[in-house]
Order: sequence, then C-alpha cells, then structure tokens
Amino acid sequence: MLKISVIGTGYVGLVSGAGISDFGHRVICADISESKIKSLIEGEIPIYEPGLDDLVKRNVNAGRLSFSTNIDTAIHQADVVFIAVGTPQGKSGNADISAVESVARTISKNINGYKVICTKSTVPIGTGQRIKELISENIPDGGEFDYVSNPEFLREGSAVKDFLWPDRVVIGATSDRAFKIMREVYRPLYVNEKPMLHTNIATAEMIKYASNAFLALKISYINEIANLCEASGADVHQVAKAMGQDGRISAKFLHPGPGFGGSCFPKDINALAAFANKKELPIKTIEAAIETNEIQKSRMVSKLKKMMNDDFSGKTVAILGLAFKPNTDDVRESSSIQMIREIQEGGGSIRAFDPIANDSMKEIIPDIKYVDSWEEACKDADSATIMTEWNEFRGMDLDRLKTLLSNPIVLDTRNILSIEKLTKLGFTFDNVGRKIVHEN
Ligand code: UDX
Repeated sequence: MLKISVIGTGYVGLVSGAGISDFGHRVICADISESKIKSLIEGEIPIYEPGLDDLVKRNVNAGRLSFSTNIDTAIHQADVVFIAVGTPQGKSGNADISAVESVARTISKNINGYKVICTKSTVPIGTGQRIKELISENIPDGGEFDYVSNPEFLREGSAVKDFLWPDRVVIGATSDRAFKIMREVYRPLYVNEKPMLHTNIATAEMIKYASNAFLALKISYINEIANLCEASGADVHQVAKAMGQDGRISAKFLHPGPGFGGSCFPKDINALAAFANKKELPIKTIEAAIETNEIQKSRMVSKLKKMMNDDFSGKTVAILGLAFKPNTDDVRESSSIQMIREIQEGGGSIRAFDPIANDSMKEIIPDIKYVDSWEEACKDADSATIMTEWNEFRGMDLDRLKTLLSNPIVLDTRNILSIEKLTKLGFTFDNVGRKIVHEN
C-alpha cells in the first residue's frame, strides 16, 4: 500500500484519487478551494460524474480516501504526489500552466525524503523539464525525487469507467525506481494485464496530445464527410458504419454532429497547433480540424435559419440540450453556445432545456429562458433544435412535438430522430448528413 496525494480535485484529480484509493492505496485529495474540500468532506461531490459518488463514498468509508486543504501536509506524507490541477487554454492558444508551476513550487519545499512527483494534468510537450526545474529549486536536505508524466485519457461523463478500465496506462519516467513505484500504484490494472507503456517524459506528453488531437480530427473529418453526403444523397450513418468495419479505422468517434466542445479537445488541439507553430513545424491537419469545427458550428445555425425563412427576428427557438455531450453538466465550448448567441443576435428568443446543464449554462448566458422539460421548451415555439443527444430526446414523442410547436420545424444536429417519422408527420427538418435519405 502506498501513500498518495493528489493535488487538484477537478474531474481528473477527484476521479484519479478515488480510483487509486480503490486500488487499495491511502489517498489524500487536496485542493486550495475550501468550499470544494468542505463539500467533499460533507459527502457532496461538486462535479457530475456517473459512478463517482459511490466510488468516493466506498473508499472514504474504508478509510482509504480523505480530503484536505493542507497541501503541504498532503505532500509531506506522500510516497507519490499527483499534480492534477487545471491547465486552461491561455491567450496564445497555449495551455496556461501557472497552476501547475505553483503546485511544483509548493512540492519543492515539502520533499522530505524520496518521492515520485507525477503530472496527470495535460501540459504542453516539454513542460516536464520546467516542472522538474521548479521542484529542484528548494528541496530540503535529504529530499530527493523522480519526475513522471502520467497523462489521463478520461472522457467526461464516463471518467470513472475510463479510469478503472483504461485501454492503456502511459508512464513517462526516466528512472526505473519511479517506474516500479508507478507500476505498484496501478498494480490491479497491471495484474489485469492492462498495457502499461514505459516511455520517456516527452513521449508521454506527446502521446496525450497526439491521441486527443487525432480524436478531434476524426470528428472534423466525419463532419465534412456528412456535409458531402448531404450534397450527394448519401447516408453518413451508413458511410460511417461501413468505414468503422475496417479495423484500421474503428467505428468510434465517427458520429457527425454540430462540432465538438468540452474542456479538452478545443484546448488540446489549440495547444498542439501552438506548439507546432513555435517549432516552425505547423500541423496543418490539426489546424484544419480546428477550422472545420468552427465552420460546423456555423453550419448548424445556417441550417436552422434556412428553415425559418432566413429570419430569427421575433421568433422563439426551443434549444434541446446545452451540455457539450450527454451525461455531463459541462457546457464549456458547447456548440449550443454559438447557436444561442446567433439566434439572439438575429432577434430571436430562446427557451432552453437540458436535463442537468441548465444551471451551468445560466452562468454563461443568463438572459434566456430556462425550462424544466422539452415539452415546456417546445410549447408554442417556432422551431426546435436538438444540440445534445440526451436519451430523453431520442425517445421524444414526435406526434406530441408537432402539436406543441407552432411551426413543425426541427433541426436534429445529433441525427437521433427518425427521418421516416419526421417525414410522415410533415415536419420541415434537417440533420447532419442524412437529410434526404429514407431509412430502409
Ligand atoms: C475527450 C477525450 O475523449 C478524452 O480521451 C480526453 O481525456 C479528454 O477529451 P471529452 O472531451 O470529455 O473527452 O468527451 P468526448 O466524449 O471525447 O467528446 C468530446 C466532444 O466530441 C463532444 O462535444 C462530443 O459531442 C463530440 N463528439 C464525440 C462528436 O461530435 N462525435 C463523436 O463521434 C464523438
């Protein structure tokens, strides 16, 4: 059993800390936010992550997991310290690593003996060197450390599953001693023969960006194929299905939509592009993915406007779904934000419903009407737009939808409604890459 401290209790730090305690280690999740730690000590999970509540409660009750605002003590007591604080996008497109640097300085003066210092936060390639220098600045006598990069591949809304059943664990470590300790941290996974890659630090940092940026590129690619399907009477779902049956392509991340959002893809692909440009090796594929994503968000607005006689003024639009994906309350970079803003700019008004993200969106866009059901959003609205593929929208009663809307106009940016039914009921509708096909 190792003593582990995780600095930062966002969805990465909290899920990772709770997950590592589930592996049998003693974990302290520490944060400078008194309110976050108070909530956690009181048993309230400040983020929405399916399964996290049980994971935390089980390990707190077993005495393996605790929470603290005393960062110094948490570091003092640890064999392994994880840095899991936020690295938001900075102005130049680069990740802002000031929180990581601040934690590194705090760690430095608390290295009482040998410790492994592990960065889980997503940091620009080459940052490991900087973090090592900061930690080395004020080490007390007798203190020594090895640095490790251990990037996360957690998806919001399935972070607990992704942590406990990862496809692979990446350990960037220059010392065998540190690698052996990290193998001990993840022993249960190792026992389950989950692949654990031992790389150098820059390679681990690159794996994170290369993986995430590729996923974003894949989404932008299928979105552009969807647009071509619309121009050729092809069905993008069948195209994606047939593509995915090629093992080299895989079926995942081939769902066309309104453009990707979230706290990671936009930030990570901009950071990778900024890094590439700094090295004077611009990464054109990723720059194209960024541009395509912005175009896709605008295409959704144009689709809706076209169905509303190119005029939003004086009309009400029901926005169904605000979160950037289902099973999360996170609206960061969500495509629904641009949709809402452009409808407002066009003189339209909004009635928005999301099963759990209403409050999150209220913090960004307070001046629209938020309601508690899709029916209420659609009542007497001039059109409805599905922006997030929540299951309750998949199963919506289209007959009822038609009676509620004052005009039977629907934009389905997630392709979850039946084209046959929409056609039979006489809706004016549009989607992404499937408009004129007829389901066989
Ligand atoms: C992503 C990566 O998947 C994860 O590995 C990394 O650690 C963090 O970033 P996340 O952003 O939480 O995870 O969610 P993800 O499921 O990847 O979706 C991101 C965005 O892409 C969402 O807006 C989603 O709607 C969109 N998306 C995803 C598509 O439009 N099509 C797809 O096929 C998949």
